[in-house]
Amino acid sequence: MEIAVVGTGYVGLVTGLTFAKLGHKVHLVDVVPDRVKKLSEGIPPFYEPGLQELMDEVGDMIHPTLDLGQAVFFSDASFICVGTPPKEDGSQNSEFIISATEGIGDALAKRTEPHVVVVKSTVEPGTSRDIVLPILEERSGKKVGEDIGLCMNPEFLREGSAIKDSFEPDRVVIGEVAPAADPLVKVYEPLGAPIVRVTLETAEMIKYASNAFLATKISYANEMANLCERMDIDALEMLEGMAMDQRINPKFFIPGFGYGGSCFPKDVKAIVSVARRLGEPTPVLEAVLNRNELQPLRAIPMLKDMLGDLSGKKVTILGAAFKPETDDVRESRSFVIADSLVEEGATVRVHDPMALENFKELRPDLEYYEDMDEAIKGADAVIIVTAWNIYRELTPTRLNSLMDNVIILDARRTFEPDDTITYRSIGLPYRK
Ligand SMILES: NC(=O)c1ccc[n+]([C@@H]2O[C@H](COP(=O)([O-])OP(=O)(O)OC[C@H]3O[C@@H](n4cnc5c(N)ncnc54)[C@H](O)[C@@H]3O)[C@@H](O)[C@H]2O)c1
Repeated sequence: MEIAVVGTGYVGLVTGLTFAKLGHKVHLVDVVPDRVKKLSEGIPPFYEPGLQELMDEVGDMIHPTLDLGQAVFFSDASFICVGTPPKEDGSQNSEFIISATEGIGDALAKRTEPHVVVVKSTVEPGTSRDIVLPILEERSGKKVGEDIGLCMNPEFLREGSAIKDSFEPDRVVIGEVAPAADPLVKVYEPLGAPIVRVTLETAEMIKYASNAFLATKISYANEMANLCERMDIDALEMLEGMAMDQRINPKFFIPGFGYGGSCFPKDVKAIVSVARRLGEPTPVLEAVLNRNELQPLRAIPMLKDMLGDLSGKKVTILGAAFKPETDDVRESRSFVIADSLVEEGATVRVHDPMALENFKELRPDLEYYEDMDEAIKGADAVIIVTAWNIYRELTPTRLNSLMDNVIILDARRTFEPDDTITYRSIGLPYRK
């Protein structure tokens, strides 16, 4: 097939490369000239493990372009992969979905061959039918379900393991205005995953409800960990014991400073805002939002217990990315922690192997270090927020050689402490 992927962020680029590897010719469309230029030069516009290698491998099966009209006109399918950021009130900002759909509709007015439009972005239930469908019909002059196909195919990849997730999905969900999904099923069949065919709205809701569930699981683990800390129980041991129950399982069950990233925070807020609009109470999800707001703020009292007043102290934050193996800092917990430290009068140093520039752009006034040891040298305390592998190489001996008095707040249990250092972690009993 010939496929147009509209939006070349984490989802669009990885999806496009996956299709190219499966043997399709893929037009990668974006509105940002610099991004398209980079892609044309074979350079990934962001960090994701294996991305460069995959781009090299698919070579001229991908065609980066700013010209949405041409890309869609020549394609059998177009995938909408643009961002759906939140508005102030948490509800979905549909402006990118609308502009991409308008462009696709205009191009389809001229195309005579069959074409299926696929919404891959995470969208509020009803968006594909109530926003995308009428725009497509109006701009193309064609009828959805007869002249044009419309599907909703949510994406479940995780940044940091996006390529593996894209090639090995647990399931492929396709919502459709029947029978539009047939060509899509052919595209996905080689991946060997179960294919779930549902309505547009069900597909949209499967994505939201999955993310809200995972955010709830993380928040639950965090709340239990906080409680364990008060009761002299090691939460990690406790959660491991729980997770051996197959109904619970160990994934997304390690305590930390809360979930961040471009998906969970926005998607939970969006589904809560949909529920409010519908007049349906969602106290469970409201509590999840609340727990996630509170969780990173624990860093300050935990650090004060060990270090006393933070004013004038040098504190190093290890990890700016919202999770390891990505340079994405959207909703990173490190922003909340850094801001709180600055408020307390501390000097904040930041290290990250990949996300330093992205973080610095949003908080230019902090101190930034490319070398981990330099970031730690002479600090009064270190907070490990993101569990990058490089932080697992830290040892009490190495820290003792860099700091006068080693004080560590290790959110993710990244390394083994000994009694030469002062060490705290979430869900680990602490005695002064
Ligand atoms: N990032 C993830 O891990 C992830 C996982 C699953 C689902 N999603 C969902 O997928 C969608 C995309 O997420 P992302 O993280 O890839 O976003 P992103 O912000 O990284 O990328 C979006 C891209 O779309 C481009 N764009 C905007 N308007 C356009 C238009 N009219 N035409 C062409 N390109 C346009 C932007 O320039 C940008 O490059 C969102 O709805 C998100 O919720 C994201």
